[in-house]
Amino acid sequence: MRHDHLIDTRQLSREDIEAVLDRAAEFADDPSSFGDRHPSALLGLMFYEPSTRTKMSFETAMKRLGGDVVDMGPVESSSVKKGESLADTARVIEGYADALVLRHPSQGSSKLVSEFVDVPLLNAGDGAGHHPTQTLLDLYTIRENAGLDDLTIGIMGDLKYGRTVHSLAHALTNFDASQHFVSPESLQLPRSVRYDLHEEGAQVREHTDLDAVLPSLDVLYVTRIQRERFPDENEYREIAGEYQIDRETLASASDDLTIMHPLPRVDEIAPEVDDTEQAKYFEQAHNGVPVRMALLDQLLSNDE
Ligand code: NCD
Repeated sequence: MRHDHLIDTRQLSREDIEAVLDRAAEFADDPSSFGDRHPSALLGLMFYEPSTRTKMSFETAMKRLGGDVVDMGPVESSSVKKGESLADTARVIEGYADALVLRHPSQGSSKLVSEFVDVPLLNAGDGAGHHPTQTLLDLYTIRENAGLDDLTIGIMGDLKYGRTVHSLAHALTNFDASQHFVSPESLQLPRSVRYDLHEEGAQVREHTDLDAVLPSLDVLYVTRIQRERFPDENEYREIAGEYQIDRETLASASDDLTIMHPLPRVDEIAPEVDDTEQAKYFEQAHNGVPVRMALLDQLLSNDE
């Protein structure tokens, strides 16, 4: 695999992560003043699943750097409908763009496509697998609000299907982080992820209840139950609404707690929490632009 494909956060060392976050901080100061960085660069967007933040922040980032995007558009109006394979589509679009962003419902899809294309490929979510660029903006947000050293983080919700969780948990093994996973039993971390985290030396504890750990947390990372990944809708209904936070739940939390969510939220965080000092999820979503600018700038400069 080319070093500049980004498929999985396990590819990233602490130095790699810090380089992107440091550069992102420079872009964040005044994102509109970097239009001469990559004036003719084109980013190919291949989204086989819904996306608002990831797609729009990649697009904003590329345009802020002076470039533009070419978008495959909705699957229904592309040649995918005619039966074209993912690999063929990617090989065609790499001829139109300097880098590709792929989101696809199948776990492993980005890894597979990375073996067919020469331009850098960024995994923007492969099923329940990974979502590394989300992790970089998550780490940026954590670093800005809580710091990445001596961190105690609670990660709550759908740990089984949540790709943002898997990517974040692996990346945090580069830092001194103690990770508390909170979920119903049926949505605990997949065994393979738990095993890999253990091998990576992660400090991991698993809980079914938030109360016991909440007071000790610096960051609470809440996730949506990934309804679209449940083989059985009834199974989803049994769990939906079980893990919600509101102002009452937060009574025992530190005033300095940083509450994050990759968004979209459904009902995991009551809107009344939005006005607290602790709520950082909209800021987190906005951090997607400078972080993706930093990543694209790095990849496109490698080719110069
Ligand atoms: C996440 C995803 O697509 O995995 N969204 C995002 O990119 N911010 C989280 C989710 O859909 O729940």
